[in-house]
Amino acid sequence: MGASRGEFSSRIGFIMAAAGSAVGLGNIWGFPTQTASNGGAAFVLVYFVLAFCLAYPAFMAEILIGRYGQANAVTSLQKMSRTVLQKRFAFVVGFGGIICAAMILSFYGILAGWMMSFAIEPVANIMGQEWIAQWVVGQSLGRNLLFTVLFMFLTIIIIRKGVEQGIEKWSKRLMPMMIGLLILLIVYVLTLDGASEGLNAYLNPDISRVLEPNLLVSALGQAFFSLSLGTSVMVIYGSYISKKENMVTIGAQVTLIDVSIAFLAGLLIIPSMYVAQAQGLKIFADDGSLIAGPSLVFEVLPTLFDSMGTMGLFVGFAFFVLMSIAALTSSISMLEGPVSYAVERHSVARETATTWIGFGILALSVTIVVNIEFMLDLVATVSTQYGQPIIAMLCCVFGGWIWHRSSLLAEIKLGNEGVENSLFWKIWPWYIKFICPVAIGAVFIHSLL
Ligand code: TRP
Repeated sequence: MGASRGEFSSRIGFIMAAAGSAVGLGNIWGFPTQTASNGGAAFVLVYFVLAFCLAYPAFMAEILIGRYGQANAVTSLQKMSRTVLQKRFAFVVGFGGIICAAMILSFYGILAGWMMSFAIEPVANIMGQEWIAQWVVGQSLGRNLLFTVLFMFLTIIIIRKGVEQGIEKWSKRLMPMMIGLLILLIVYVLTLDGASEGLNAYLNPDISRVLEPNLLVSALGQAFFSLSLGTSVMVIYGSYISKKENMVTIGAQVTLIDVSIAFLAGLLIIPSMYVAQAQGLKIFADDGSLIAGPSLVFEVLPTLFDSMGTMGLFVGFAFFVLMSIAALTSSISMLEGPVSYAVERHSVARETATTWIGFGILALSVTIVVNIEFMLDLVATVSTQYGQPIIAMLCCVFGGWIWHRSSLLAEIKLGNEGVENSLFWKIWPWYIKFICPVAIGAVFIHSLL
């Protein structure tokens, strides 16, 4: 097993892959939507603080566990367990994460399929194929099935190629493309009428709201979802990092990219909404809050693009391509979690494992599509609101309570000789032992009430 394991060939390769996993629909769709429904800038502020103070330390625990174990989540957690009971616990946590990743992929693939179908619409319009344009943006079983299958095929094809030739190569290509598109779109939207009012709503916090419990819960949930925590994915990506790398800075860089892209996405979406308002569209729901959820991305924005004439075709196309790319670099990481487990624990060839697991998850997606009314929400809630926080918390418990302290410190030191003088060294071990599990637990319990 050892010699044939993949490894990211460069630091930038890992950063692009991990940031690719982190940056997804959660950043470009979820974050602006949450910002819109939680009072704008106050949410942004709280999100920044929680992302760096709670999500980053938990993220560090996962990538360090992976690099120490040099294996999939179950094996890595078992390597630091000493008793039989701990080893069983390691299995439950690691395997739970893998199941969680598979469940997230099963519904994420459907949403990503919608992004692809909306990208086709302007193309069909330019080619004069109006019926295609209408079909791809209408809710129908056929449309949902076709695009879910297409998206899952792309994911499977990349993961079959492995760590360097698949994940790393495609993340390095797709991430810069996505960032470029995002910046172009922002620059364009900010020149339109109404954008400055949107900027104002986005950037001027109402400080009195920052301690609202609901806002805190949403912000922490969003930060965990965004860093792909609690799904075994960051453990396996961490395991592909060379022992020569400085994990503390690499982890901080990935977090910074993730948070920055969420911020940029808000800079695109919130002003876009106010531009839409300046054009006569309704952007506030009846209770006075900004329209959020699916109707924001699939109704308000497309109507805005339509109103831009020919330019709107290009803007709409760019926007949904951006969404699709962001989704793809995330979905490949979700598939890597279960695949690496099958390859390393059951000695299955990577191609075979990818195809079987990929099709298994696709079968679940198809089941969801067919029962979309009640299953989509159910699978999303179970995996992201229950699964992710619980498993992320248990990973902190592993890092803080089960992992031998001297071996944990030795792992941080690899590739980072001067770390002993840093703040990270002094507070992080204590942080994941007490603060992270308690804070995550508190937020989780509050979200149940
Ligand atoms: N971080 C991704 C996003 O922001 C979504 C995500 C959640 C994810 N959990 C994951 C991605 C696990 C990969 C693996 O859209």
